[in-house]
Parts: sequence; C-alpha cells; structure tokens
Amino acid sequence: MSTPALTRPPQRLVHFHGMVTVAPQMLQLFELVRRAARSDATVLVRGESGTGKELVATAIHAESARARHSFRAVNCATFTPELLASELFGHVRGAFTGAVQNKAGLLSQADKGTLFLDEIAELPLELQARLLRVLQQRRFTPVGGSTEVEVDVRIVSATNAALRKLVADGRFREDLMYRLRVVVLYLPRLVERDGDLEALTWHLVDEFNARGQRQVQGLDPAAWEAMARYPWPGNVRELRNNLEQAFVLGEGPVLHLHELAPEVQGQGDAGGPRAPTASAEGPLAAVPQAMTLEELRRQELIDAWKATGGRRDEMAARLGLSRSTLYRRLKRLGLT
Ligand SMILES: Nc1ncnc2c1ncn2[C@@H]1O[C@H](COP(=O)(O)OP(=O)(O)OP(=O)(O)O)[C@@H](O)[C@H]1O
Ligand SMILES: [Mg+2]
Repeated sequence: MSTPALTRPPQRLVHFHGMVTVAPQMLQLFELVRRAARSDATVLVRGESGTGKELVATAIHAESARARHSFRAVNCATFTPELLASELFGHVRGAFTGAVQNKAGLLSQADKGTLFLDEIAELPLELQARLLRVLQQRRFTPVGGSTEVEVDVRIVSATNAALRKLVADGRFREDLMYRLRVVVLYLPRLVERDGDLEALTWHLVDEFNARGQRQVQGLDPAAWEAMARYPWPGNVRELRNNLEQAFVLGEGPVLHLHELAPEVQGQGDAGGPRAPTASAEGPLAAVPQAMTLEELRRQELIDAWKATGGRRDEMAARLGLSRSTLYRRLKRLGLT
C-alpha cells in the first residue's frame, strides 16, 4: 500500500478502424492494410487468438473501393458443413428439408463488397473445392441449384493455424491455400507490440471508466508487474476481459493485483504447469515459450472444463477466448 500507484503515462495513441496502438509494429501493419486494400487481392490475415484479425478484415474493407458495398462475415468453425454451404452459397427452394424458399447466401449478399471467412482452417474439405471455384472464376452454384451465379467479391480470410501444416496433414487443399494467401498480413502478438500493453491498458481503463460504475486512476505496481510478466496468450481480448472483470468485481481508484485473473496474478492451479514459470525470477524470455504455451493452454482448457462443467459460454469468458476459438481448441483436444 505504501508504494504509490502507477498513473497514466503521456502517450499518443493511433486509432485505425477500431484498433488502438502506440507500437511501430502495428503502424507498419496499418500501412500494409492500406496498400492491400487498394488492390482487389485476396488477403489472408494470420494471428493468434484475440490479436484483432476480425478488425483487420473490416479495416481492409473500409479502406477499399468496395467500402460503400456490403461486408459480410462468417465463421467457418461454427456451422455444420451443410449449414455452412447454405450460408455461403445460398440454397434453392426444396434443396433440403426446411428449405421452403430460395435463400441468397453470403456470397451474393457481399456482391461488389467483401466476404470475410473467419477460421478458414475449419472450412470442411467438401466445401473447399467450391470455394476454390469462387476464387478462380467468381462463380458458384447455390445448394440444390442447377445454374451458376456470378459474383464480384473480394475474399478476406483469417486463421491462427498455419494452412501449410493442414495441407501437409491432408486437411486443406494446397491449391486453395495458394489462392487464399495471395497477400498475407501477420498480426503481432500483444507482447510483441512495443508499448501496447501499457497503452491498451490505459485505453481500456478509459473505456470502462466511461461506464461510470468505477473510476480507476492508478495501477498497483504489483498488478502491473504481473501483467508485464504474463504472456497474454489470448492477446488483446484477454487483456480486455481481465480489465473488465477488475472493473466489475473490484472497487476504488486503484486497480489491484488480486482483481486480475489468477493466471495473470501468477497463481496457476496447484501442480499446474504454470506454477514453476510463475515463480521463476529470471525473465520469461528465457523460458521455451512455444512448448510451455501449448501445454499451458491445454491445461487451462481442462481446468476451465472442470470448473464450468463444460459450459461453453462460461469457459470462453473464463479463458478470455471467443466461442469459436474455444470450440476449435476443444475440438483439437477431442472434447467436443
Ligand atoms: N489494437 C486493438 N485495439 C483495441 N481493441 C482491440 C485491438 N485488437 C483487438 N481488439 C479487441 O480485442 C478483441 C478481439 O479482437 P478480434 O475479435 O478482432 O480478434 P481475433 O484475432 O479475430 O480473435 P479470434 O482468433 O479469437 O477470433 C475485440 O474485442 C477487439 O475489439
Ligand atoms: Mg476472430
């Protein structure tokens, strides 16, 4: 209590289509977004969970000549293959039980605009050939239809898995991969963005202060130390969720360490894989993060599963993940 709370440093935030940053790495990315947007090229957005892939996709659309037409988005992980086909390509009346009338798919709805295919790695093999045709010829056939429809659409897709690996595993068509990754934009992890942990923290504090329930003016140095040490696997989303939780559960003008999620505080569950890292004195950079992170995530998932009885919404909130990311990770672990 005797150490004074940290207060807001002077900073010049750059705003770009919902993204906020002070990091040169992000400014560089914004420039690439602008250039990519000038062309009609198909863009693949790569980045870990919660890094802002969806925001980048909307930025590409907004910066492009297609901006006054529609932007449509679909998450390839959240539908069955049948539903996804109908969602993307539309269907004709009578195509299947329940198809009582013709329905325009997202491709048609995005005509002259942009279609965002999120979690593209999850696109079922049976739909990959049809998407390839869209990319090659800008044509498709609605489900149950017999005539092809032409469409003028720019495709932006996103993934946090390397498509090349999926190709090697036979789960993704190589020709489609090449068509999707004409331009690839990489989103850095939160911890790789110089100055952004602090800048985004204060930006989010402002946002939550504006809600009026609590006014945070300072940061307990212990809280900041823990935040600075934590690897933020859920990136900006996880930071946001942590601060939001602190605003909801804590009180007073100083944000304290105990208001943050246990994993950020450095208390992994007893015996969990995080305990040794959390108590390590040396810089985290010395830890082989790739392995540790994978293991950590696995354990986190299992812990969250146990704690919530497998309820998806609660698990997602707990882990600071989107539902689709959670779904994908569960699937990988065979927990769905
Ligand atoms: N630079 C940023 N500034 C402010 N907010 C951001 C920034 N990047 C991401 N966010 C916020 O973080 C959350 C996650 O962003 P988004 O959904 O675009 O990430 P994503 O990469 O698509 O994640 P996932 O892989 O889990 O789908 C959103 O609430 C978004 O508004
Ligand atoms: Mg997303």
